[in-house]
Amino acid sequence: MTIKTELQVSLDERSYPIYIGSGLLGDAALYRPFIAGKRVMIVSNDTVAPLYLALLESALSDYEVSSVILPDGEQFKTLDTVNRIFDDLLKGRFDRQSTLIALGGGVVGDMTGFAAACYQRGIAFIQVPTTLLSQVDSSVGGKTGVNHPLGKNMIGAFYQPRSVVADTRTLSTLDDRQLSAGLAEIIKYGLINDIEFLQWLENNMPALVARDEEALAWAIERSCKDKADIVAQDEKESGVRALLNLGHTFGHAIEAGAGYGVWLHGEAVGAGMLMAAEFSQQLGMLTSADVERVQVLIDAAGLPIQPPAFTAEAYLDLMSVDKKAINGRIRLVLLKALGDAQVVADYPYEQLQNYLQKFS
Ligand code: NAD
Ligand code: GLY
Repeated sequence: MTIKTELQVSLDERSYPIYIGSGLLGDAALYRPFIAGKRVMIVSNDTVAPLYLALLESALSDYEVSSVILPDGEQFKTLDTVNRIFDDLLKGRFDRQSTLIALGGGVVGDMTGFAAACYQRGIAFIQVPTTLLSQVDSSVGGKTGVNHPLGKNMIGAFYQPRSVVADTRTLSTLDDRQLSAGLAEIIKYGLINDIEFLQWLENNMPALVARDEEALAWAIERSCKDKADIVAQDEKESGVRALLNLGHTFGHAIEAGAGYGVWLHGEAVGAGMLMAAEFSQQLGMLTSADVERVQVLIDAAGLPIQPPAFTAEAYLDLMSVDKKAINGRIRLVLLKALGDAQVVADYPYEQLQNYLQKFS
């Protein structure tokens, strides 16, 4: 079987490979070196399991394999759902030499990673991402966790997988809305620090939306490379990794405010990046032509560009529950220029209030 690309996340003894290619899911050789012991539990959901669980199980025929199938949806990304994984691990007497494999999108991946981080204080896990968003972002970098009714991803741990196996063939069953959600995170890499990639995206967005295989494979590879570089510099987000949250403070407010699952995470990030660009313009950092470029690209990716009509107070309240906030101050990732993001804390608060008023 051909591996199209192998990238590396360089984190000393916790370094790991990312395999990207078509038809990788059933390739036993990609899993074997990263499985601890004989027992494997695959965590998936009731949408992905009927499509891909059997193929993954067949690749793992040398192991004692069980599976736990979770309900599908962002609204189930909770401690209660993670507890179902713990229930099955404990009932099955899984020991510390066991391995979890996350088969699904970012919701399954984040919860499986968190379960792996906590179970007996840490067991091995492998990411097998099956959405575009999870192949370009959530499966890489070791952020794991769950939502809380008061804030998105507020409970979690940094815990790296042993490897990532991204089979681009699985994207054939993904619907267009989910594909667009993944494109939002791809655009993010261009906007924060990769102007060359941003220009490539501007030229190739129609091909990506039309699912051109070569274009998609290239975009996934470039995104994973950009992310791996940032994670290698700043695993636990004490500096540059915060830039990966462009659009997320606005976006998480949209997701939580609308009710988890109403706006897809990628959709909220897309609208949030446009809000970040507009606010950057208000602070004199971007030109209106820059903002126009951001809007055109997000629109071309099939993403919504009109944020929901919450009051400024509601936005601010939701945005204040953010992991970047320090001493109650909302810190924002803004754009100094396209391809050049920075964390900004010293903007005039009233200006943010005024900006948000236009959505109510
Ligand atoms: P998701 O996991 O909800 O998947 C989207 C939908 O697609 C689900 O209904 C899923 O069952 C379905 N699906 C998955 N693979 C499929 C396939 N191949 N064919 C058909 N349907 C398929 O959403 P997502 O966009 O993958 O991930 C979003 C989540 O990721 C959010 O919770 C977000 O917070 C998290 N996230 C985490 C990180 C991180 O660094 N850990 C980064 C970005 C996003
Ligand atoms: N998606 C943001 C990060 O991984 O840091």
